Amino acid sequence: MMNVPATMLHISESPRSSCTFSSFSGSPPRLSADTLALLDSFYSSKAEEEQRFNDLAEKAASRVASLALNGHIEEPDPPMMSVDEYRLAFGEDWQLSQFWYSTEFATRLAKSVRALCTPTSKVAFMCCPTGFVAFQHTNPLDGARLLEFDDRFRVLAPSKVIRYDLDEPDVFPEDLRGGVDVVIVDPPFLNETTNAKLIQTISQILHPQRGKLVLITSNSIEDVLRRLYEKPPLGPLRLTSLDPEHGGLANEFCCWGSWEGAEDFGKSITE
Ligand SMILES: C[S@@+](CC[C@H](N)C(=O)[O-])C[C@H]1O[C@@H](n2cnc3c(N)ncnc32)[C@H](O)[C@@H]1O
Repeated sequence: MMNVPATMLHISESPRSSCTFSSFSGSPPRLSADTLALLDSFYSSKAEEEQRFNDLAEKAASRVASLALNGHIEEPDPPMMSVDEYRLAFGEDWQLSQFWYSTEFATRLAKSVRALCTPTSKVAFMCCPTGFVAFQHTNPLDGARLLEFDDRFRVLAPSKVIRYDLDEPDVFPEDLRGGVDVVIVDPPFLNETTNAKLIQTISQILHPQRGKLVLITSNSIEDVLRRLYEKPPLGPLRLTSLDPEHGGLANEFCCWGSWEGAEDFGKSITE
């Protein structure tokens, strides 16, 4: 089945668009001054983003190396950066269907999830890096984890960011098995196969009785979702009070919860 990216952009052209020159004859086409200025500003902000990421990677290098060598890290992770800082260092990779939440929404989500937790709760953000950053920035928990395919995020918190590929749904750390209190998932692709693979993982890590699932995705596949996320603790799905927001995207996204009373999730949370 074709992978439909989780969101559709309102951008007709991007600097990633390819352009063939073979169809032009005579002198090469000239770009207008406005277009050149736009390209210039795009490449400068990309260079700044890369520099910010490289600085972070340098600071985290010893922690990442220690984890790889010893399986654990002596020093604690550094305090989590804000969502605004994160946006400046981590550009969206559209090939991976990366579209970040607005800072306001990420913060509301983080506070709403925190309201479900105790100090010893285990929380897994799956394919949801902005949610993880906002959560650890506003009110960090030792038991929070990010399960993500993109290795860049390891520099944020080397002991808490776990490489996860939904195409290998049975590969996850053993200490998560059956013990996660809250899973927050934002699937990268809008189809049944992607959700079925994620469910294969979630049903192995979510606590069978007290586990709660927060699902954030497009309502364009609501029928599929209601069929797949059907039985506790993964369902039935209830529409929550949170309205997902991304920067400048068109899709109608919703936030569902799997527990009784999930309709009130996010209701009394202000930024
Ligand atoms: C639709 S985005 C959700 C991001 C969310 N809106 C946020 O701001 O945190 C989907 C996420 O899935 C991740 N992803 C892409 N392919 C994946 C794969 N094969 N396995 C696990 N995660 C993947 C992307 O890196 C991206 O962070």
